[in-house]
Amino acid sequence: MKILDDIFCSYGTDKSSKVHNFSDVYHVALNPGRHEVKAVLEIGIFGSTPDNAGASLKSWAEYFPNAVIYGVDLFNYSFLNTDRIKTIVADQGLIPGNLDHIIEEIGGEIDLIIDDGSHMMHHQQTSFGYLFKYLKSGGYYIIEDLQTSYHEICNPTKTEYNTVLMLEILRHSGIVLSDYITDADKQYIQRFVDSCEIHKITPFASETSLIRKRSVLPRNG
Ligand SMILES: C[S@@+](CC[C@H](N)C(=O)[O-])C[C@H]1O[C@@H](n2cnc3c(N)ncnc32)[C@H](O)[C@@H]1O
Repeated sequence: MKILDDIFCSYGTDKSSKVHNFSDVYHVALNPGRHEVKAVLEIGIFGSTPDNAGASLKSWAEYFPNAVIYGVDLFNYSFLNTDRIKTIVADQGLIPGNLDHIIEEIGGEIDLIIDDGSHMMHHQQTSFGYLFKYLKSGGYYIIEDLQTSYHEICNPTKTEYNTVLMLEILRHSGIVLSDYITDADKQYIQRFVDSCEIHKITPFASETSLIRKRSVLPRNG
């Protein structure tokens, strides 16, 4: 089970066992069929030089050998662009000219979406509400570092539903409660979520999630 962790460690992303330790949870979910993955989107690039920037984008490019990896950030990381890594400047908390621009740039369905961006409640939920419908059937939407739900600084709008609470309610009842997701997108998510897992991981009590989209419609769908 070391393949993904070795890759994460070699590029220095904090997803590795040296920090948040998300590797094994991701490898179990993502390893089956990873050679068929065609498009991955990660929000949040990070770093300042060609050597240290884009650690997770480079990791995904190695782990998914047949995919194009799209990275989104507030800052311009075009120096990372290759034939398999494409960076996009956008704010994950805004839809017009930002989240819709990302979808235009990708131009098709996405196999895997990872939100490792601002970690603000309103941003995580705006992105999830808007982007989930562009995920491929059977694909995963990951919201990382959910421990930020317990930090006041990450909830500047003081929403009643932090992201952990939103996902716990989705997991238990199949209902989406959020101040930042339209009614149409809530209904879409409720209809198409297959499973919603929240993982609390040692050593730093980091939390991540795996929200899976249905691969077939529900009977009454
Ligand atoms: C935790 S770092 C990403 C780390 C990287 N994914 C990795 O694993 O190596 C978060 C990044 O999100 C970016 N960011 C912050 N607010 C954002 C926003 N509103 N929209 C898009 N990106 C944002 C920051 O500029 C920063 O580069």
